[in-house]
Amino acid sequence: MRLPLADLYNKPDERNLLDHTRQGIIGKPLDRPEGPLKVSGSATYAAEWKLPGCVDGVLVLASIAQGKVTKIHDKAALAMPGVLAVLADKAMLRRPAQGTAGKAPAQDVAKVEYFGQPVALVVAETFEQARDAALALKVEYKAAKSPIPFDPESPDAKVEKAPDRKAVKGGDLDKAMKNAAFSVDVEYDTPGHASAAMEPHATIAEWQDDKLILRGSYQMLAYNVKEIADCLSISPKKVRILSPYVGGGFGSKLGITHEAVAAAIAAKELGRPVRVVMTRQQVFQAVMRRSETRQRVRLACDAGGKLIGLGHEALVSNLPKEQFAEPVTQATEFLYGGDNRLLKVDVARISRMTAGSVRAPGEAVGMQVLEAAMDELAEKIGIDPIELRKRNLPGKVPVQGTAYSSRMLVEALEQGAQAFGWDQRNAQPCQSREGDWWIGMGVASAARVNMLIPAEARVTLKADGTALVETDQTDIGTGSYAILGQIAGEMLGLPIARVTVVLGDTSLPAGAGSGGSFGAISTGSAVMRACEAIRAKLADKLGCDAEALDLKDGVASSGDTSSPLEHLLDGGDIAEIGSIKPGKTALDYAQASYGAFFAEVAVHAFTGETRVRRMTGAFGFGRVLNAKTARSQCLGGMVWGIGSALTEELAFDLRDGHLVNHDLAEYHVPVHADVPAIEVILLEERDAAASPLQAKGVGELGICGAAGAIANAIHNACGVRVRSFPITLDKVLPHLPDPFAPDPFATAA
Ligand code: MOS
Repeated sequence: MRLPLADLYNKPDERNLLDHTRQGIIGKPLDRPEGPLKVSGSATYAAEWKLPGCVDGVLVLASIAQGKVTKIHDKAALAMPGVLAVLADKAMLRRPAQGTAGKAPAQDVAKVEYFGQPVALVVAETFEQARDAALALKVEYKAAKSPIPFDPESPDAKVEKAPDRKAVKGGDLDKAMKNAAFSVDVEYDTPGHASAAMEPHATIAEWQDDKLILRGSYQMLAYNVKEIADCLSISPKKVRILSPYVGGGFGSKLGITHEAVAAAIAAKELGRPVRVVMTRQQVFQAVMRRSETRQRVRLACDAGGKLIGLGHEALVSNLPKEQFAEPVTQATEFLYGGDNRLLKVDVARISRMTAGSVRAPGEAVGMQVLEAAMDELAEKIGIDPIELRKRNLPGKVPVQGTAYSSRMLVEALEQGAQAFGWDQRNAQPCQSREGDWWIGMGVASAARVNMLIPAEARVTLKADGTALVETDQTDIGTGSYAILGQIAGEMLGLPIARVTVVLGDTSLPAGAGSGGSFGAISTGSAVMRACEAIRAKLADKLGCDAEALDLKDGVASSGDTSSPLEHLLDGGDIAEIGSIKPGKTALDYAQASYGAFFAEVAVHAFTGETRVRRMTGAFGFGRVLNAKTARSQCLGGMVWGIGSALTEELAFDLRDGHLVNHDLAEYHVPVHADVPAIEVILLEERDAAASPLQAKGVGELGICGAAGAIANAIHNACGVRVRSFPITLDKVLPHLPDPFAPDPFATAA
C-alpha cells in the first residue's frame, strides 16, 4: 500500500494543507496522552518489565585507563550466593555505538582504552547478588606501555582534522582582521558535559529460539536493531526492540550502549532473560560525553558594524579512530556574514570515555561562544548587540551560496526584546545595583540546523471511525505521542480522543527515531502522508476530489454531500503507510530553526556568585505542532543553558584519567532553586522547504546560545568578561569592582 506520492522531499510542499483542514487541533497545547501513565508510575520503563525467570547482570568497569585485562579471577565470584556467570565475551561492546552498524571496528575485548570501560558482566539470581559479586570480582591488568594523554591540551595529544567536517575557507581572514575598523580575537573554553538523562541505561534481553527481544531505553530503534545485530553477528530481522517509554536520552541513547549487548550475550548463554541496568556512576563513566572545547573566534567588521571577516576554530577531543567530533562551527557556517572566513574543527585523540552527541551537538557550545564574542564586538563598536546581529544576516550562505528557507531571527530578536523589556538595559556595565547584587541583561541569538530523516508510519482508519497511528518512533519525553496523534486527528478530521498512537516497537514501520530535533517533523511527515492516502480513498468513496473533501468530527463532507465515516467505511478499515525521505530541498535550502535569548542576572558584589533572575526566549521553527510540548522543549533547553553557563562541568583527574564527578550530586545540573521564571514565545511561521508539515525541529533549539546570553548579562552586570565556562564564582571574583568604593560606579571596568 505504497503512497502514489514520491516519498523523496524534492520540492517545498506549498499546499499548506494543515491550514485548510478543519479539526482545529494541530498546534493546540493538548496534553500528552501518556502523561497520566507516567505521573502515576504505571508507564513501563526499560528496567520495569517483569519477565518470568529473569535474572540480573551487573557490569564491571575497568579501574585503569589504558592497558590490557590479563586475567579475570572469576572462581571466587562464581562461588558466591546466586551467581550464575561471569562473562567477558569478545562480542561485548567496547564503546557506545554511534551509527557504526555494519562498520564496527574489530574489537579487542581485553584492551582497556579509558577509565571505566566495561570489561565484564556478572550475572546472578538477584541484582544484589550480582552487584556483590561484581564488586568482589578480581581483574588483573597490565598498564599500557605507551599511553595516550588524558588532556586534550597536552603537547603529546595527537591532533587531527575532524573526520566528518570540512573546513570552510573563504577570502583572506588575516587581511580582513588587519583592515577591520573593529575586531575581536578571543579564545573561550567550554568543559565536557554529561547527558544526565534521568533514566539510566537499561536493557532486558530475552531469546525466543533464535530471535532476540530487547526491552530497553533507546532513541533510534531502527538503527539500534542494526547495531545490536552487527555486534552479535546475527540478522537484524532476528532482533526486535521494545522501547515505549524513555526517561530522557539527550543523545546518550542514540546508539546502543554496553548493557544492551552484555544482556543479550548473557541471556543466550544462560537460556533465561537477563536484565542489565547501569548505575548512575556507570552511565557517567562509560556512556558518551560531550567533548570539552577550546574555541578561537575572530570577528572583523567595518566602520558600519558589518562583518567582513569571521573565524571560528575549535579543538575538541575523542578516542582514537572515532568518527564523531563535536561540530562546534555548525551554525557559524550559515548564521552571520563575513566573506573572509575560516571555520574548522580539530580533534585531539585522548583517553576519556567516547565523545558523542549530547543535546544539540555543535550549536550548544558553539553558539554560546560565538554569541558571547558577538557581544564583545558590539561593545567595541558601541552599538546595541541586537542591532549588530540584525546588520549581519546574509542574503545567501557565505562561501556556499545556498539560499535560506524561512528565517525568523529578526522577529525573534525584536519580539523577544519587547517582551523582555530590553529597553530598560543600560549598555554600560556596573550601572545597576540592588543591595549586594549587580544586575545586568544579556542577549544572544539561537540557531540550530534543521534535518529531515527517512521515516515511515502506518495509519489505520478503522471501521468504527477511530484511528491508529503506528511506528517505531520513540518518545523520549519530547511529546511524540501527542503530536503524532494531533497530526492524524487533524488530517482525518477526528477529535483527539478517537486517535490512538502506538510507538517504540520495531515490528512497526520505521520512524526517524528521536535525535537531532528531527523526530517530530520526519515521522510526523510520514503520518501526514499516510493520512493523505486515506483521504484520497475517502474522497473516492464520497465521490469527490481529494481537495474538495472536508473532514471534521468524524464526518466526511463535500458540497451538499456528507456522511459519517462509519457509514462511508462500511465495515472496512483503511490502512496506509506513509513515508518520507530527504531530497533536494535539503540541498537547495539552508534550513535552520532560529530564536533569541534574553537573560537578566544578579552577580553578588562580594562573592561573585551569579543567579539568573529571569529569561525570555522567542523561537521560530516553522509550524508549531503542539504549543505545550514545544514550549516545554524550549524551556528545558534554556534550563540546560543555565547549567552550561554556570554549573555543568565534567572533571577528570589527569593523573589516572578517571572522572571525578560521576553522579548528579557532583555534576551540577540546575535544580528548581536555580531556575527562575522563564518566558517562551512561539512565533507564527511556516517553512515549506523543511517538511510537508511546514514545521522545523524544535527539540534542541532552546539550548543553542542560551548560555551566551547569560555570560553577556554577567558582563553587563559587573563588567567581568569570563571566557571559560561554566562561569563559577571563582572566575568572577578576582575581577569584580571594589564593592566598598564610595561610588561603586566609579570603579566600573
Ligand atoms: Mo540528540 S544529542 O541528536 O539526541
